Amino acid sequence: MPTKTTVSVIKCDVGSLVGHHIAPKVLLNLAEKRLAEAQGKGLINSHYVFNAGDDLELLMVHQRGEENPQIHKLAWGIFLEASEKAKKLKLYGAGQDLLKTAFSGNVRGMGPGCAEMEFEERAADPIVIFAADKASASAFNFPLYRIFADPSNTAGLVIDPEMAGGFKFEVLDAKQNMTVVLKCPEELYELVALIGTTERYTLSRVWRAKDDLICGATSTSRLSLIAGKYVGKDDPVSIVRSQHGLPAVGEILVPFMHSYFVEGWMRGSHWGPIMPVGLKDSQCTVFDGPPRMVSIGFQICDGAIACDDEGKPMIADLFNDPAFEMARKEAMEYAAALRRMGEFEPARLPAEALEYTTLPQVVEKLKGRFKKI
Ligand code: 13P
Ligand code: 13P
Ligand code: MG
Ligand code: MG
Repeated sequence: MPTKTTVSVIKCDVGSLVGHHIAPKVLLNLAEKRLAEAQGKGLINSHYVFNAGDDLELLMVHQRGEENPQIHKLAWGIFLEASEKAKKLKLYGAGQDLLKTAFSGNVRGMGPGCAEMEFEERAADPIVIFAADKASASAFNFPLYRIFADPSNTAGLVIDPEMAGGFKFEVLDAKQNMTVVLKCPEELYELVALIGTTERYTLSRVWRAKDDLICGATSTSRLSLIAGKYVGKDDPVSIVRSQHGLPAVGEILVPFMHSYFVEGWMRGSHWGPIMPVGLKDSQCTVFDGPPRMVSIGFQICDGAIACDDEGKPMIADLFNDPAFEMARKEAMEYAAALRRMGEFEPARLPAEALEYTTLPQVVEKLKGRFKKI
């Protein structure tokens, strides 16, 4: 059996520079240093540190499999150390996503978000990572549906015989804590029925149906369900595998030619338009947004990220391109339209979605003043 390669993206808001704007360079540098040490010791083979707004993103490529305690411990340790540094600097929300203290081998259920994918390397394996800020766990439901299930998005579904059997989708029901696997195109309508309900269902994994080849993995943690109150938004990450019988990189990116709406934005309590941006614009400003999405791409090579002659991982900053200018402009137009609505729905999320915010306290305060009619 050939050794399998694992791509792990583990992320956490450990504290940020000026409100919820960005994870500052000092924290990225600290993470970079620790991951370089881990690579030197042979724990991981490759790494890349970046930020999605105020979220610190650790990309690690290794051969230890998914949910590996050493890999998770490495990430958890870095988040703890970075949040200590953030506390010392009195950065905003230092340690925001570190919701539990007793680490027992896995970051799941503790606050950090985690997407992982283990696979046997193909002759060439292009990987695309997406990371969002100011967005809920289901922010990838819509684009992943477009990429893997919609023939008007992905030409390969129509003209590549390798994809003719369609794809299988794992959907997580956050309310019941249960998953279901649906096969498309046969169960396309059922899939949309579920994942269109973004506050409850999250598209968590995708496989090619004919051979169960893994090709999509998304983080699913819902911070409010872990904390029992609002502590910040989930800001999920997703890993997508591409080409040669899977959607082409261009088919993976084309859903982002237009903006679309996600739950999140200011105080995690508003519908906001996704703005795809290059890493240099990975920062939230207007009304703590608009919700940003960054995307990086790379080739997998012998259990690592393909590197340049100096041994530096070759990373493509995929949204750093004029092709996404239209989506960015749309995002600002949608943002302006929603902000004109102030705190009236549908700009603000419906009350049920705000169950874990401070809104119930406002209602509670007025309780005794309501009179029967
Ligand atoms: P593959 O079938 O090798 O992925 O190539 C398809 C392509 O060229 C996409 O534009
Ligand atoms: P984050 O989840 O990105 O920390 O944002 C929290 C928030 O309340 C922004 O207004
Ligand atoms: Mg924050
Ligand atoms: Mg964030």
